[in-house]
Amino acid sequence: MEIILCGGGTELARAAADVIKSQLDKKPDSVIGFATGSTPLGMYKRLAELYKNGEIDFSRAVSFNLDEYYPIKSSDSRSYHKFMYDNLFRHININHSNIHIPDGETDDPERECAEYERKIEAAGEIDIQILGLGRNGHIGFNEPAPELYAKTHLTELSHDTIEANSRFFENESCVPRHALTMGMASILRAKRILLLASGAGKREAISSLLSPYVTTQSPVTMLKLRRGVTLVCDNKAYPGEYKNDGGDKRL
Ligand code: F6R
Repeated sequence: MEIILCGGGTELARAAADVIKSQLDKKPDSVIGFATGSTPLGMYKRLAELYKNGEIDFSRAVSFNLDEYYPIKSSDSRSYHKFMYDNLFRHININHSNIHIPDGETDDPERECAEYERKIEAAGEIDIQILGLGRNGHIGFNEPAPELYAKTHLTELSHDTIEANSRFFENESCVPRHALTMGMASILRAKRILLLASGAGKREAISSLLSPYVTTQSPVTMLKLRRGVTLVCDNKAYPGEYKNDGGDKRL
């Protein structure tokens, strides 16, 4: 695993955006897996800036988002549809017919999930999957459990996640209890993975990632089963010693 250790949010955003830029420079028709949440916001802002400066081109890119609350209307201000358009898609030149986000309005979640998997496969699989990290070690909405789903599925959010995400809603009771999420195999099949973590709240989950073990009780540890993972992490989330020598550090 490659680890890029950053001193703060701006560095993290730039380091992460650079990874996406070099992916698109190498393969302009890359299939990119996007994540929502607070952590990738700086990277999305930086990608929009790179686009504005003419330094990145999304015209041939294809996107698949990791997850969406269920049920939720795509027009709902808290939906991940709205999040992605507001924070990225409206600010770059991605072809809107190439955007895929699980449909939180479907009346047949099982069919929607099977269809989503089929579309990822038909697109030739994901070239680079961006991941945030739950403080409980979840990736996508694959929550700690004795068994994890392989493919895209309807899942119940853990209490920890409901509590963590209540900051986006009026209160905890308004957070949807379910979500449609890519499964562990859908994520692990990606050709490359870019995991982002910032803040002390993620330190325990990062410790489990850096431990010698793999456990379904911390789904992020399953990233150790493969190569091609880059962790971009700030000093607060990193459990080891961090020396600020003025730049990002490649461990
Ligand atoms: C979002 C997602 C989640 C978040 C995670 C961290 O699409 O799949 O796994 O990445 O909950 O969220 P933040 O970045 O808000 O701490």
